[in-house]
Amino acid sequence: MILGIETSCDETALALVSGKRLLAHAMASQEAHSVFGGVVPEIASREHLRLLDPLLSKVLEDAGKGLEEVEAVAVARGPGLLGSLLVGLSFAKGLALGLGVPLIGVNHLHAHLLAPMFDHEIAFPSMGLIVSGGHTQTMLMRSATEFEIMGVTIDDAAGEAFDKAAKVLNLPYPGGKFIDELASRAEPDKGLFPRPYLDNDNLDFSFSGLKTAVAQYVEKHPELRFERMPDPREPGLLDDAPRELAEVCASFNWAVADTLRIKVRRALAVAGEVKSIVAAGGVAANRMIRETMARTAAENGVGLVLPEPWQCTDNGAMIALAGQILFDAGWEHSSDLDAIPRGREVPWDYKRIIPEVPA
Ligand code: KG4
Ligand code: ZN
Repeated sequence: MILGIETSCDETALALVSGKRLLAHAMASQEAHSVFGGVVPEIASREHLRLLDPLLSKVLEDAGKGLEEVEAVAVARGPGLLGSLLVGLSFAKGLALGLGVPLIGVNHLHAHLLAPMFDHEIAFPSMGLIVSGGHTQTMLMRSATEFEIMGVTIDDAAGEAFDKAAKVLNLPYPGGKFIDELASRAEPDKGLFPRPYLDNDNLDFSFSGLKTAVAQYVEKHPELRFERMPDPREPGLLDDAPRELAEVCASFNWAVADTLRIKVRRALAVAGEVKSIVAAGGVAANRMIRETMARTAAENGVGLVLPEPWQCTDNGAMIALAGQILFDAGWEHSSDLDAIPRGREVPWDYKRIIPEVPA
């Protein structure tokens, strides 16, 4: 039974997994950030520190297990917010040391891509698309433990573009899901916003220009903006949204989805044999992006694997599952495991788990 710990951004999440079976998971989305329109790193770290202990008790209780039954501790070691990662890492190291069990640092992005393996087989080699608040990447997965970066964003991540577009409309943070909801009510105007960074032959992404285009459009049409930022928990907060706003959201969402489609198609063309596409990360919960990826997979004659919407956003289950896969493959970390901040590549610095020799 593996314990997974996720604290790389503003979600504090834990889960218990045994043989790819999810026994229990618990998560606290830190609402303290919503009024600031973005994650405040200092608050995130303190919240993780406050939440980890009660969440650990909760997963153990929900699974009906004792702490002494944990056989390995898996923890997200990056990329993410350094302070937040360090809180999770310290907690994980303390547990692993106290219990005398292996410690396994998990690449948060790999965990996103492996999350669907709870319910699906992934046919390898597979083209992974990670679209989250911090990252937009294509990654060739040769197996569940071999990943190769294909394309990365040179500025904003897709989720950041969603959140910033939502912010100019005065929608609460994180606004991706509100744009998704509004977009589902209208048809996109495909000429309204540019699909960014396609006029090249590389695999990278850039979303900052699209964000600016939306900001400029809203400046010219201030009536689209919510007068006051609604409380994100307010029921029916989008009920009175005008049709024009839904159209703008649909057009923006389409520009992102279609850009992802084109870049994934390019990545497939250079990758050689690929049997499936996996789209993961918070933005992979987006309806239009899920439909677009389904079409992309069908057009390219490969399978499509999508995590359940709840598994798209950061969660402890994906960390525990990735930890289980690494554990089964015989990999662990020593207690000098360090945290890797956003922007730095996560190294492959595992050590072989040495099985105990019976006396
Ligand atoms: O993977 P995630 O939970 O955290 C990171 O590792 O960044 O992704 C969070 C991002 C946020 O930008 C959020 O607005 C976006 O995912 N998101 C969505 C949707 N649900 C969450 N974006 C578009 N459509 C959605 N339905
Ligand atoms: Zn994430």
